[in-house]
Amino acid sequence: MPVPRHILEVRQFDRSFLLKLFERAELMRSLAGSGFSTRLQGKLMATLFFEPSTRTRLSFEAAMTRLGGGVISAEYAGATSSAVKGETIEDTARIVAGYADLLVIRHPEAGAAARAAAVVDVPVINAGDGPNEHPTQALLDLYTIWKELGRIDGLRIALVGDLRYGRAARSLALLLTQTRDTELFLVAPPTVRMSQELQLALADAGLRVTELDDLEGLASSLDVVYQTRIQRERFSDLADYEAARGRYIIDRAFMSRFNPRGIVLHPLPRVDEIHPSVDDDPRAAYFRQARHGLYLRMALLDWILGEQPAPVVNAYSSGAAAPAGGDSAS
Ligand code: CP
Repeated sequence: MPVPRHILEVRQFDRSFLLKLFERAELMRSLAGSGFSTRLQGKLMATLFFEPSTRTRLSFEAAMTRLGGGVISAEYAGATSSAVKGETIEDTARIVAGYADLLVIRHPEAGAAARAAAVVDVPVINAGDGPNEHPTQALLDLYTIWKELGRIDGLRIALVGDLRYGRAARSLALLLTQTRDTELFLVAPPTVRMSQELQLALADAGLRVTELDDLEGLASSLDVVYQTRIQRERFSDLADYEAARGRYIIDRAFMSRFNPRGIVLHPLPRVDEIHPSVDDDPRAAYFRQARHGLYLRMALLDWILGEQPAPVVNAYSSGAAAPAGGDSAS
């Protein structure tokens, strides 16, 4: 698969691209460990965020800066850009594409990044479009699994929480179709269960999908628990939100039953669905996951914008741990 021009949805990635991207992220980890690079010197990235963000925007901006490029940012684009005056995402994208070499867009409407990509001649990265997709989150999630567990195949993975509106869980579920022999468990309160349409699409793509209520009963046999926030901002009826929250909490009692070699992931931010007392447990990988996102996004930017070949560095020379086992079927 050639290097993609835009990053809009996870369906565009194939397995060989993913494994090359993860190796490249390892090179970026080494590069970042030795200071700032000049690989993207002279390139400019614009971040247009019409919804709040901490990790996605700042990690993209850190990634670009660490690669020697420049950044311009509309941090509260929904409130401070000319969108307030009624400008469309297409027109905003056209204008900013005249200033920058790549656009990173987060927007509350599904399909907004794709609409922008259709009218500009620079690459566009979807940093989350409403309840639809968050493709770079899914890439960093699978990279984290590869990095932490040493493989992406033969795993038992539970997606927990908001599987109806949660774009991170949706994108990860779709990306997992590129893995082999994966058992996927869907554990969600009744009001935020994954749609039957998506479940069927996952099963058709080869995942073994089981929907169930009992997370506790699975705990000892899971390799990955992917916890998510119940997203208050996506509910029109607060009673539905209240009914959904608090149903599945990762706490010390859960961890005492959880697989000793498993990992707990979360795209973050969390509210109360992972108790802070779990944070010191070595299996709590969510803060490492956010850090892995920096290297993954460096790899994406370097690949999309860079005209140089991959950097020649020893991926494991600067203290970065090698993946536990490597990919068994690369
Ligand atoms: N995971 C994630 O998208 O976090 P932010 O909303 O902080 O970017």
